[in-house]
Amino acid sequence: MKKKRSIAILTGGGDCPGTNAVIRAVAKKAIIELGIEVIGIEDGFEGLIHRRWRKLHYEDVSGILTIGGTILGTSNKSDPYKCAVEKGKTLRFRNVSKTVIANLKKLGVKCLVCIGGDGTLFIANRFHKDGVPVVAVPKTIDNDLRGTDITFGFDTAVSIATEAVDRVHTTAQSHHRVMIVEVMGRTAGWIALYSGVAGGGDIILIPEIPYNIESVVGKVKDRNRMGKRFSIVVVSEGAKPKGGEVVIQKIVKNSPEQVRLGGISFVLGHQIEQITGIETRQVVLGHLQRGGSPTPTDRVLATRLGTKAVELIEARQFGYMAAVKGNDIVAVKLEETAKGPRNVPLEHPLIVAARSVGTCFGD
Ligand code: F6P
Repeated sequence: MKKKRSIAILTGGGDCPGTNAVIRAVAKKAIIELGIEVIGIEDGFEGLIHRRWRKLHYEDVSGILTIGGTILGTSNKSDPYKCAVEKGKTLRFRNVSKTVIANLKKLGVKCLVCIGGDGTLFIANRFHKDGVPVVAVPKTIDNDLRGTDITFGFDTAVSIATEAVDRVHTTAQSHHRVMIVEVMGRTAGWIALYSGVAGGGDIILIPEIPYNIESVVGKVKDRNRMGKRFSIVVVSEGAKPKGGEVVIQKIVKNSPEQVRLGGISFVLGHQIEQITGIETRQVVLGHLQRGGSPTPTDRVLATRLGTKAVELIEARQFGYMAAVKGNDIVAVKLEETAKGPRNVPLEHPLIVAARSVGTCFGD
């Protein structure tokens, strides 16, 4: 009997709202329209190294549209080209990509669908160059991937961050305090910019615009003089002072990208309080921004991207990802994502608009 055609799907990097919606879209379209078998790889590339996978039946991907996280599990520590192996206290890196390629051959899949951020897509592109048929869907709450106008997960993160900014207004106003909300985003300020504008933050600090503490406290003092006895600051975890450094929360040694940012709001809060004498508090949103159900916008985007990925497979457009250009979903070469993070342009229309309603960017 002829073996049924099959594809494999994996999710790599940090979890992101909408990932299950992409898995569902890919698997349902493949099963319903093409009669293809779908294999779910567990925990990103780790599953391909250690042969951990399972068949995804229609029922497995039904009812997961609104659920956060990924039903397949994920990992941001498993690069087969640079696989960390602990030997006592020393950490060595080995290239086990040939094992992965052999495992995929044994599995007999027509294509590997990779859903991931820059790290996962970089690895996906290496496998493509090594002869593995790969298509991808870009994923990150940070919205910092090149080749696509927007990534799924971003809208959800912005909604959560905006709600937090809205909620700290209560305490800021009632107690006449400065309240700082620290958001994620790595080296890009998209989440801070969008949630800061949406939540009416008085000061928005992003990595792309190194800040001057005098300018920040100047804004707080100006507001006080105008009778506004509170201020809201939205700061990106990757923000840094002019001539200064980012605040590192943790180094994860066995991860290809080892630096985890976090804690800038404590440094900033201390300085603002010292200089202005106004009580200053901070909230670090952290992984709350990645948790829970995706927004309707992200569910729709994830569905469009997932179904496009299957179209790419059918068209044998390997080495490409499904991406957003304006209102369209298009095919973009995976190589695009390797050109470094997509940062907020200094003349971005939202920065211009925010400045014209009096928002301070600390410069
Ligand atoms: O890339 C998504 C992201 O949430 C970043 O905003 C953040 O810097 C990083 O991942 C945190 O990674 P981890 O979950 O490994 O701490």
